[in-house]
Amino acid sequence: LFGESVSISGTTYETDTMTNVTPKILEKVGKNLHNRKKHPLNLMRWRIQNFFNDNFLKGRTPVFSVHDDIKPVVTLEQNFDSLLAPADHPSRKPTDSYYVNSSYMLRAHTSAHQRDMMKSGLDAFLLVGDVYRRDEIDATHYPVFHQVEGVRLFSQRELFSNVADPTGLSLFEDGRKTDHKQAIHTMESAKLVEHDMKSSLEKMANHIFGKDIESRWVDAYFPFTHPSWELEIKHQGEWLEVLGCGIMEQEILKSAGVDHKVGWAFGIGLERLAMKLYSIPDIRLFWSEDTGFMSQFDVDDVNTPITYKPISQFPQCSNDISFWLPDGYSENDFYDLVRTIGGDLVEQVSLVDDFCNPKTQRHSHCYRIVYRHMEKTLTQKEVNVIHEAIQQQAADLLGVEIR
Ligand code: PHE
Repeated sequence: LFGESVSISGTTYETDTMTNVTPKILEKVGKNLHNRKKHPLNLMRWRIQNFFNDNFLKGRTPVFSVHDDIKPVVTLEQNFDSLLAPADHPSRKPTDSYYVNSSYMLRAHTSAHQRDMMKSGLDAFLLVGDVYRRDEIDATHYPVFHQVEGVRLFSQRELFSNVADPTGLSLFEDGRKTDHKQAIHTMESAKLVEHDMKSSLEKMANHIFGKDIESRWVDAYFPFTHPSWELEIKHQGEWLEVLGCGIMEQEILKSAGVDHKVGWAFGIGLERLAMKLYSIPDIRLFWSEDTGFMSQFDVDDVNTPITYKPISQFPQCSNDISFWLPDGYSENDFYDLVRTIGGDLVEQVSLVDDFCNPKTQRHSHCYRIVYRHMEKTLTQKEVNVIHEAIQQQAADLLGVEIR
């Protein structure tokens, strides 16, 4: 797919046997939908960000700093090793992640930046960004999605600030790992961090989905937190997983040079929440440039309730194209040309007839091109414009003779 090297947002990377990123995936790098004004993912991200800005203040300054422009190319060390992912963790498989080469990859989660953000001196931050996982494409799966990561650290004084008499309490001990705490944490520090995290995140869920929603904590496992949980909320009668979180592994804080503190972290996926909150039926719609989609999210107040209304039943529209083949004709060249001109409007191209004139020995092909728009009905007129452009370009560039 690529030559010796590949360029991603201005940086050149040498390719090697690990490289499995594709041009289609790299097209998404830099789109930053979470930063696009009035995009539903931007509305979601502001709901979360506003919650932290409004509820965590030191004087008048928000405690959590926000970072939404960090490039998605990270080292394998950042994405895996820095987070204590075991050598045989399934997410390391080339079938699951996008590798730029043997050293760099597209981050599979925003947690990839935890260690470095703490190392740079941050005690409380939110990180918003695009993440990449190899996956099939259907209504609920897409190989690119967006996450918000949150981290909060406490010094001994901060964590025990609400305890009437903190003498004798400490963050650390030389203890035993249990289901409820890490070996190095005292029970009181583990419980206080857990309580601070759970009450903060429950409040956030209420801020996003409303005061009256039911929620529950489910035990979970992540290599970089212990203990770990998932928060679920009841939405239209079904339990919906909202986020993953936990008490940060002390070893990670130590590698960041903040081993005198303890902390919690969470990660939340924006697409799934936005789909539920706005009744968006298909994850691919987030990538739509269509004004029929975008205009439904054009609100000044990010808390405005919105219910997405699908624009049509999306009928297909198919047109045939027939031509005599020139010498050296390649079907794949034609398919590429159709995709280049028709883009996402082309759902399918198939060869429906292969004819050889017995007298002249000339070959002709007939292809059926199926057009379908993601969120509206295409008119025959619109389709004709594209179809004619394809005929014209096929004649000009491939030398075919239209029949
Ligand atoms: N990174 C995890 C994921 O993508 C979520 C997470 C973040 C869990 C932080 C715990 C702490 O699933």
